[in-house]
Amino acid sequence: MKLLVYGAGVCGSLFAARMHKAGHDVSLLARGERLTALRRQGVRLAEGNGPAVERVPVPVVEHPDGGYDLITVFVRTHQVDAVLESLAGVRGDVLFLLNWAAGPETLGAAIGHGRVLLGFPTTGGTMDGDVVRHRRSGFLTRRVAMPVGEPDGRTTPRLLRIVETFRTAGINAEAEPRMAAWLRTHAAFEVPLGQAVHAAGGPAALADDPDAVGGMLHLMRQNLTAMETPPVPRAFGALRALPQGLLVAALRRFLKSPTAAHSGLGAPSPATAAELERLAEQLRAAAGAR
Ligand SMILES: NC(=O)c1ccc[n+]([C@@H]2O[C@H](COP(=O)([O-])OP(=O)(O)OC[C@H]3O[C@@H](n4cnc5c(N)ncnc54)[C@H](OP(=O)(O)O)[C@@H]3O)[C@@H](O)[C@H]2O)c1
Repeated sequence: MKLLVYGAGVCGSLFAARMHKAGHDVSLLARGERLTALRRQGVRLAEGNGPAVERVPVPVVEHPDGGYDLITVFVRTHQVDAVLESLAGVRGDVLFLLNWAAGPETLGAAIGHGRVLLGFPTTGGTMDGDVVRHRRSGFLTRRVAMPVGEPDGRTTPRLLRIVETFRTAGINAEAEPRMAAWLRTHAAFEVPLGQAVHAAGGPAALADDPDAVGGMLHLMRQNLTAMETPPVPRAFGALRALPQGLLVAALRRFLKSPTAAHSGLGAPSPATAAELERLAEQLRAAAGAR
């Protein structure tokens, strides 16, 4: 499979390195200083805060060439428009592996509806200079599958081929028939969480303010109520069904946990803030359209 990985930040670099190590024909598209660093040193990976840095010599490109079997896009929500423009004339199916609450229609309108697939990266980390520090994988995190789906939910031969190809590289991908609802559910939860954490100055500071946690829960509930489908996964329905006091206590416990401290929530970047703002706009537009 000839594969282009579009976006050489945390998730794109990690994914490209894994696919390259598994022997696939991968190119990683980068820009600016990241392009220079990748050309010089390849993808540099480290687990957690560990000192060991692995170098993976993934081929790097500045522009897409004529066509690919698959293009995987790993950019921030607010960066998608520019990517769509540059992919309009490039052949190949396009799998968007990113936060996106606007549904597949706008993507398809720009590059052709038949080319679009949706998904979400479930492994992540942070950039430490040129080094991608990915989260340590444990028994539980290895079991969290990367959902990938067709916009209409069908299990097509191309979807099965993609899932199988990713699995050969040790990526635990899984076909998800309700991918657009999955992404909207995720945004319904992540936007209030991310914005409340940023406003408070970190997860632990937010945990110390029960009123702010209550306000965040209220927004999550509003977002979930505005969805035209039940949440995916269904477990997110608990955010609407369980008593407020119980949920505020559980969210505060999570915000104080090492998981929250190491999740990247506490280190907001301008790109994260801009992404959350664009996702919030997408949620508002979807709610307004109902
Ligand atoms: N990081 C995580 O732990 C994690 C986990 C799960 C899901 N996600 C989601 O996955 C998506 C990707 O996240 P990420 O952490 O990989 O983001 P990131 O580290 O910010 O990487 C995005 C990369 O794409 C590049 N890019 C953007 N537009 C481009 C363009 N037009 N041409 C070339 N390169 C372009 C950016 O370059 P510039 O820096 O020059 O803009 C950056 O290198 C996001 O939706 C994020 O929320 C992230």
